Amino acid sequence: MQEVMAKIISLAKRRGFVFQSSEIYGGVEGLWDLGPLGALMKKNLRDFWIKRFVLEEENIFLVEGTILMHPKVWEASGHLEHFTDPLIECKNCHFRYRADHMVAGRFIGQGKAEEKNQCPNCGGKEFTEPRMFNLMFKTFLGPVEDKAHLTYLRPETAQSMFTNFEKVLRTMRAKLPFGIAQTGRSFRNEITLGDFIFRTREFEIAEIEFFVKPGEDERYFEIWLNKWEKFFLDLGIKKENLRRFEHPKESLAHYSKRTVDIEYKFPFGWQELAGVANRTDYDLKRHSEFSGQDLRYFDEEKNKKYYPYVIEPTVGLERIILALLCEAYQEIPGGRTKTTKPTKEIEVLLKLDKKIAPIKVAVLPLVKNKPELVKKAKEVYQMLKPYFVCQYDELGSIGRRYRRGDEIGVVFSATIDFQTLKDDTVTIRDRDTMEQKRIRIPELGDILQKALEGEKFLKFG
Ligand code: GAP
Repeated sequence: MQEVMAKIISLAKRRGFVFQSSEIYGGVEGLWDLGPLGALMKKNLRDFWIKRFVLEEENIFLVEGTILMHPKVWEASGHLEHFTDPLIECKNCHFRYRADHMVAGRFIGQGKAEEKNQCPNCGGKEFTEPRMFNLMFKTFLGPVEDKAHLTYLRPETAQSMFTNFEKVLRTMRAKLPFGIAQTGRSFRNEITLGDFIFRTREFEIAEIEFFVKPGEDERYFEIWLNKWEKFFLDLGIKKENLRRFEHPKESLAHYSKRTVDIEYKFPFGWQELAGVANRTDYDLKRHSEFSGQDLRYFDEEKNKKYYPYVIEPTVGLERIILALLCEAYQEIPGGRTKTTKPTKEIEVLLKLDKKIAPIKVAVLPLVKNKPELVKKAKEVYQMLKPYFVCQYDELGSIGRRYRRGDEIGVVFSATIDFQTLKDDTVTIRDRDTMEQKRIRIPELGDILQKALEGEKFLKFG
């Protein structure tokens, strides 16, 4: 399975989805940049998330909080005290590891680690006692680098949704139940990295704090767990590749009454993709206590004030990107073309969901040495470009260009050939079925729009 992962990583790097950050200087562990295709994919993902959970919901409000916040936030939230992992150090080479990862045998097969509790760097078997290491990155607000100016890069986006709870309530005239949603960069000084973009030190979280009446929390937990899971199914992930993991009491975060992870079957095993937590009234209570502001909700029906409970569905966008790349990656030995002799090569198809695929349409002149074809293809490209993310490609045979597009999940290809010059039609090819149709150029925009929205391609024959 690691072989498949290596191929997916190679494709992601080679075709512009993901690059190692600062690679010209040797790279930095746990930091990855998104290349042109990865950045578009993430934008599509974020847009779909906002559409699903803000635009299509009636009572969820989008906010955008700052990454740096008042240091007291992290005291109140409990992160200063509890956002830690157990750290151990190899007594021989002084490399550091997460103790729970070492005990679980995570490093077996890496470097010199042949068994549990063995250092992958030097093979040593003696470690220091675990000490708790706080994962928050420190920084200073202003030019004075002393304790009074110390703050942290946020490790989750949740906190600005709690500190703005009363403002959203008031400005939006919200009533329970309602939610606050946010996507944004988060930072964790993770001890153990690896598995490509699965666990990184900087990533984007998309999460909702959904405030409910106390006593209704358990019901809303189930509702959100189902909605959250459906979101991943609607991104094209197969049901059999998702499962739920109920956290036992002892592994719950300090704020949680119940947490269920949605796990994905990555090539390197079942791992957390997303989560839903019942944060109770912990955060609002703590921020009231630490700030001296009353963050209770006034219930007009009951004529009393109380702290709402919070259900929090959360996910990291890069982790979804990795899951979608794994889910979409297919190898077809000998290729899919039945009309010509099969090649010996393995063809790669990245069957990304249409709404998430970074490139929607490739515009291809049949050959590049006929100026009239190239001119027409460029006109079609210019016509479609403002409405769809398009790619113009004239290099190599048409079959090669189709395959190059399939490898990055280009949804449709529009080929401009000699017939185009006669009757103003182009050949549209569907990535998944390889079905081809001739379509009149003036109708192309409408037809592609509908096909991308999910109407059956065939209908437009
Ligand atoms: N506010 C709750 C919260 O932050 P979390 O489970 O710690 O919960 C949320 O993180 C999501 O962020 C996870 O479900 C996962 O998808 C993603 N995530 C967590 N740590 C990550 C890391 N180091 N690198 C990439 N994604 C990460």
